[in-house]
Amino acid sequence: MSITVTFLGHSGFVLDDGTHSVAIDPFLTDNPVATMNADEIRCQAIVLTHGHSDHLGDTVAIAKANDATVYAAFEIAQFLGEKDCKTEPGNPGGKINGDFGWVAFTQAFHSSSYEGRYMGMPCGVVVNLGGVTVYHCGDTGLFSDMKLMGEIYRPDIAMIPIGDRFTMGPELATKAAEWIKPKVAIPIHYKTWPLLAPDASGFTPEGMEIKVMEPGESWQYR
Ligand code: NI
Ligand code: MN
Repeated sequence: MSITVTFLGHSGFVLDDGTHSVAIDPFLTDNPVATMNADEIRCQAIVLTHGHSDHLGDTVAIAKANDATVYAAFEIAQFLGEKDCKTEPGNPGGKINGDFGWVAFTQAFHSSSYEGRYMGMPCGVVVNLGGVTVYHCGDTGLFSDMKLMGEIYRPDIAMIPIGDRFTMGPELATKAAEWIKPKVAIPIHYKTWPLLAPDASGFTPEGMEIKVMEPGESWQYR
């Protein structure tokens, strides 16, 4: 049971278990820290946390180039369906089985729109691939049910926004990580622009490994 985790920069990842690849929030074009182009991404599924352009990103192009299915909130799936993408709509509390494993949607305290269009509930996503469970919190403020998400899903890896202003800052993200209790916590959504926290130095949860990843970096879990 192992997966390769590749950080695309900002909030984006590709998870690969050797058979299946799942991209989360693939934002590359106009991403100032990205080291890869959208046409380099290979995946069978794309999972989105919400509709903001720094998360929806290159989804349409990548989905079409790979014939990939997009797992996203109902309204995002409607929008992508209009663009002829294959979709699996969901919403917080729900779980969808795929041939790679499953995706569950959790709540996130944020907003969700794209070019002025309402994009439904912002979400966190839990992806199970290759026997490894990954909780990507999306963009969110701190909420105490993160503790419950940790108890229910027992994530091996949690990706937690720490950039402040639009999401938790490092102090609240530290609290979130200690509530979720993953084996490995990866800080995300910082450093991309000057408005966000410049580094992960304030993210200091105890009781887990903290994995600070550089854009383009890959790391094997187990
Ligand atoms: Ni956002
Ligand atoms: Mn964002």
